[in-house]
Amino acid sequence: MINALRGMKDITFEESQRFTHIIKTAIEISKKYGYGYIETPLLEETKLFKRSVGESSDIVGKEMYQFIDKGNNDVCLRPEGTAGVVRAYVQAKLDRRPRKDRFYYYGAMFRYEKPQKGRLREFHQFGCESFGEASVYEDFEIILMIKDIFDALGIGYKLKINSLGCSDCMPTYRDNLVSFLDNIKEELCEDCNRRINTNPIRVLDCKSTKCQSLLNSSPKLISSLCEHCDSDFNTLKYLLDGAKIDYEVDTNLVRGLDYYNKSAFEFVSDEIGSQSAIAGGGRYDKLVEYLDGKPTPAVGFALGIERILELVKMPEDTRNGVYIGAMVENITDKLFDIASILRKTTKAKIEYEKKSLKAHLKNADKFNAKYCLVIGEDELENNKIWVKNLDSKEQEVISLDEFILSYCS
Ligand code: HAM
Repeated sequence: MINALRGMKDITFEESQRFTHIIKTAIEISKKYGYGYIETPLLEETKLFKRSVGESSDIVGKEMYQFIDKGNNDVCLRPEGTAGVVRAYVQAKLDRRPRKDRFYYYGAMFRYEKPQKGRLREFHQFGCESFGEASVYEDFEIILMIKDIFDALGIGYKLKINSLGCSDCMPTYRDNLVSFLDNIKEELCEDCNRRINTNPIRVLDCKSTKCQSLLNSSPKLISSLCEHCDSDFNTLKYLLDGAKIDYEVDTNLVRGLDYYNKSAFEFVSDEIGSQSAIAGGGRYDKLVEYLDGKPTPAVGFALGIERILELVKMPEDTRNGVYIGAMVENITDKLFDIASILRKTTKAKIEYEKKSLKAHLKNADKFNAKYCLVIGEDELENNKIWVKNLDSKEQEVISLDEFILSYCS
């Protein structure tokens, strides 16, 4: 037997209904906020992610599905969606027009991580990216949109926010942090020691409790922000307070991708175990430039679909559509004709095999149909159908035209 690869899974049956419900809900809400669909390739040049997500990040350093293709190109399966959308934005020269663009996307992402509950090697994200808007109101609107999505899906969450500063305030902070870390490096773990030189900010995010207790007294970026970043962060907090969205300022929230500046945020759930981040994002005002575009402010987020699958409250499944069955032989053509008329307005399922009325009613119930439509000897002779409404239990023999007119228009 051939199984799916480790860390990759099939999504079927009940789970697949939740999966499509999440995507459908997220699309509906993001469209209300003015986002339009973008589809980018799953496979990209490796250098795209090196330049955006960052060579020192775990994602690029350890987790890429990278290979040389038959044309000798260094390529990899996308580990996240933002870089590809920015590449597409620059490639289409959208950065050259004074316009704001908002895109949503969903699909598979690949990270060669150690699989565990909530951490897969192939997983799916729904994400949004907004280009051309520098105002912190846009950061707020993105958070508001995620809140709307989680509310619509019936998912509880905690919101964590931080500011990662800008090219004015971050370098001075980074130098202060490195001096602090140099003094305690003997006691920090191996990973932190490696990061002091490659990406010191990521040290703040270390999962070891020993490192975290040593970092309690580290300098905090939030107290070293320049005037502009400080004012934007205060505005964001003010807007969240005004909208009555609870949040926690987490000065260690640095995100695992290098392209962020200013606002960074994560939505976490305490109902799914240690892999608790259900959505994450923030501002990335330099990324369009890093990928050879014109300076363009941008902000976005992505939510992890597998992580919220079990949290979603599905809307009540109401009966709908028509089940069509025969109690006589050789009328499949007639059943097809009826189904094709009905499918113009509703869902219809045909049972090809001749069965008893009791068996048809049982099948119709399984299909969760609202109507069970059956043709027997009498109905065939009189050009009628037998119909039962499975909600009201009413039944009658009528012509197909009457049925369509009364129930399917
Ligand atoms: P991220 O935080 O790396 O951000 O991923 C976003 C979400 O994807 C996470 O919060 C989590 O729910 C889910 N996720 C990440 N890794 C896994 C995994 N191995 N298994 C299952 N779920 C996972 C980004 O990817 C950014 N591109 C988000 C963004 C968009 N920032 C700006 N725009």
